[in-house]
Amino acid sequence: MIQLQTFRHEQFPPTLNWQAVSFMRVEWPFINGGMLRETYPAELSPVHFALVEDDLLLSYAAAFRMNLQHAGMEYDMACLGNVFTFPGARRRGYGRRVVDEATRHILAGSSDIAALFCDSDLEDFYKQSGWEPIHGSKTMLTGGGKPEVLDAVRMMLFISEKGRAGRHAFGTLPQHVPFPW
Ligand SMILES: CC(C)(COP(=O)(O)OP(=O)(O)OC[C@H]1O[C@@H](n2cnc3c(N)ncnc32)[C@H](O)[C@@H]1OP(=O)(O)O)[C@@H](O)C(=O)NCCC(=O)NCCS
Repeated sequence: MIQLQTFRHEQFPPTLNWQAVSFMRVEWPFINGGMLRETYPAELSPVHFALVEDDLLLSYAAAFRMNLQHAGMEYDMACLGNVFTFPGARRRGYGRRVVDEATRHILAGSSDIAALFCDSDLEDFYKQSGWEPIHGSKTMLTGGGKPEVLDAVRMMLFISEKGRAGRHAFGTLPQHVPFPW
């Protein structure tokens, strides 16, 4: 039976973790030089969204939170990433189910804003789950050394009153992030 399951990091079954990690090592070999053992580091306390058929992982996403300084304000930001569906299971609505569930989880939490990064051809995919593309401002990577412009579309949710009040600033001023999750 196909089921959508949500796990706190400490409850994420190793059998699902290794399937997700293996997918990521093939699809995104530049993350950690391909030497991943977790989809996100445990210290980020990720929440895992897994569409499974028994113990077989079909589609996956993860979310975590970080504090973000922007335009003189501090925000609690939810971050969505590592979204994928195994190739043989694509175009059956599984990715949509996982992203919808992760989005619901984020909206029900206490974050001010949320962000994800994607290629432009997936803008509509995330838009359908309520995410807003931000084209008016650059995303700058600040992982060390000189900040670099991230070549990806930043998509956001403005959740709390504080987050909504910051919408204009997020749409016009560069957003600095430590890594493009
Ligand atoms: C992107 C991805 C997660 C979509 O998963 P999926 O399970 O096939 O998605 P769904 O079946 O729920 O698609 C829902 C809708 O999204 C859109 N969509 C899905 N994949 C798309 C793609 N690669 N390009 C453009 N639109 C896409 C379509 O409108 C689709 O509806 P349709 O099948 O009726 O046309 C999957 O293609 C994938 O794993 N890609 C490789 C990893 C990746 O790029 N992840 C995204 C990181 S930001």
